[in-house]
Amino acid sequence: MKYLPINEQLFINNRKNFVSKLKSNSIAIFYSSDEYPRSGDQSYPFKQNPDFFYLSGIDQEQSILVLYPDCPNPLYKEVLFLRQTNEHIAIWEGHKYTKPEALAASGIESIFWLTDFDSILHSIINYADNIYINTNENDRYAHTVPYRDLRMLEGLRAKYPLHNYERSAPLLRDLRVIKSDIEIELTKKACEITRDAFVRVLKFTKPGVTEYEIEAEIIHEFIRQRATGHGYNPIIASGNNANVLHYIENNQVCKDGDVILFDFGAEYGNYNADMSRSVPVNGRFTPRQRDVYNAVLRVMRASTEMLVEGTVWNEYHEEVGKIMTSELIGLGLLDKHDVAKQDPKSPLYKLYFMHGTSHHLGIDVHDYASRYKPFEVGNILTCEPGIYIPAEGLGIRIENDILITKNGNVDLTADIPVEADHIEEIMNS
Ligand code: GLY
Ligand code: MN
Ligand code: MN
Repeated sequence: MKYLPINEQLFINNRKNFVSKLKSNSIAIFYSSDEYPRSGDQSYPFKQNPDFFYLSGIDQEQSILVLYPDCPNPLYKEVLFLRQTNEHIAIWEGHKYTKPEALAASGIESIFWLTDFDSILHSIINYADNIYINTNENDRYAHTVPYRDLRMLEGLRAKYPLHNYERSAPLLRDLRVIKSDIEIELTKKACEITRDAFVRVLKFTKPGVTEYEIEAEIIHEFIRQRATGHGYNPIIASGNNANVLHYIENNQVCKDGDVILFDFGAEYGNYNADMSRSVPVNGRFTPRQRDVYNAVLRVMRASTEMLVEGTVWNEYHEEVGKIMTSELIGLGLLDKHDVAKQDPKSPLYKLYFMHGTSHHLGIDVHDYASRYKPFEVGNILTCEPGIYIPAEGLGIRIENDILITKNGNVDLTADIPVEADHIEEIMNS
């Protein structure tokens, strides 16, 4: 890992909160992510399962966490199983956690090698009534590839068919969405690194540079500041490319007179920033570009005000839609008579703003959360309105990361330049 050690109190508290929600006499088992094959003999870089990390702080493959707070043997109330290193692994793959290092990272005292897993689990699981297993219940998850928790569940059900099986995911959904101080600090760090990369590319961008050269500047700044890398595929979309919402080719020349839409964010210590900015390639917005830019900025500011405790998703999106509609009328993109006659189920603003305004942000960029729960203190949400006008070869999105507190909200990206004048000033400095 490139990131500095994280205060293990984060993971101690997370486990404490999690086990307090278990039914009595329950055992919960968590597996680290699979190591995903790429092609040939290559694997993708290892990415820890977010829930496993949240509860353990352990960022290593082939690890298992067992939590059994009512375990009759106190040694096994919380146990971590790790891959035992050897000379071969040390030479070919490098360092793996020692037991003292894993204790320091996780705060877990009972640490064993993986080879002990089956026998230790078997010695305790038959005293438990419930087995909690964690599956991916993120309602945006749509892949069909089976993952480790699912495969392990099959084996457990075959071996222990008469236990009562329970789901860890709903408990984690309510826990992960409330960010603790340490998580907020990690997110702030990711935002700071993202800010520095953005300022770096503002100074770098000029007519004739390619989108991939800008991408190279970003990753340079990320890595030199200990980010793991991008939290998601970066979008560097000049001109009309900005109207492809998930444009990640990043292979075109940035032309004089165009605007570039950036959407990138650093991952630091498994926590993410998610930022969008739109800037003129030549350092000066045209009057039209500036009008559209300022319209998006006003929508972002008005929407941000609604990111407070108690706001309900549907009402929030409806309100944002109204504000966006009036901006689009102001820009001459919508006609108010047409708006008066629109079908409320498919409002006209969606022609120019077709994605959601916000999502939770955390260990996952689109963080695991209920879409039906009102916003709560401790939520971190993005605010990311955009206006996309293919007919003008122009797409603008602005995206900040907002923490909800008892006293309103705090913009974790407040020091990332966002005013059109400020962006122009840095580009021309
Ligand atoms: N970068 C992904 C998003 O903005 O949701
Ligand atoms: Mn986002
Ligand atoms: Mn984004």
